[in-house]
Amino acid sequence: MSSFVNKAKVVFVLGGPGAGKGTQCAKIADRFRFTHLSAGELLRAERSRGPYSQYGTMIEQHMREGKIVPVEVTCSLLERAMKSSSGQRLFLIDGFPRNQDNLDGWNRRMSAKVDMQFVLFFDCHEDVCVHRCLKRGHNGGSGGGGGCIGSGRSDDNLATLRKRIQTYNENSMPIIKYFEGAGQVKKIDAAPNVEQVFTQVERTFLASGF
Ligand code: ADP
Ligand code: C5P
Ligand code: MG
Repeated sequence: MSSFVNKAKVVFVLGGPGAGKGTQCAKIADRFRFTHLSAGELLRAERSRGPYSQYGTMIEQHMREGKIVPVEVTCSLLERAMKSSSGQRLFLIDGFPRNQDNLDGWNRRMSAKVDMQFVLFFDCHEDVCVHRCLKRGHNGGSGGGGGCIGSGRSDDNLATLRKRIQTYNENSMPIIKYFEGAGQVKKIDAAPNVEQVFTQVERTFLASGF
């Protein structure tokens, strides 16, 4: 057997802030036995180690400004999480690669070690994205984790959301376009309700042999 067949399979999950990546990843993980790794969640966990993390302050500053953290930090967290999910072979990498630095860092460090399957792209109008982020944690949905007190995220406010949308348009969209040019994007209409979006997602994974 070549080592190729033993490589972990990775699906990148991209889309604007609030498009529903985390919500759909939870459902995919449940239905298709993928391990869900959110780059944003890993960065928030690293930040919350407070003084024990040398990166906490830098991560918080980047999040508040809607900026993308240098890939060395994010890719290390992803690699560590993949290694610690022992025996897991299927990974959803949610919210990554978000810019050219993310993509270059991944290619340097990880691309030869895994078998990237496709990019799952949640296509969503930015007004809908902003509305969902501002409601996150208020509607009992997943992906927020704050009950009725809001998401508790320091970046789910209008001022930061404007910056996140700008970063998405200027830095993330070119990455999605790059993968599109390589024929690697599976585009999902993220505007309908959660179940209707998942119907499209499910069809996509089944058609890809999962
Ligand atoms: P992302 O991970 O892309 O930022 P989330 O999955 O956290 O997005 O979703 C953002 C907010 O929108 C959450 O409160 C979630 O419950 C809600 N949400 C997710 N998908 C939908 C949908 N299809 N329709 C309406 N609300 C949604
Ligand atoms: O994906 P999520 O909405 O959780 O990301 C929140 C923030 O985490 C981003 O706005 C960004 O500041 C940071 N992030 C990052 N690099 C990534 C993913 C998230 O810097 N690849
Ligand atoms: Mg998310």
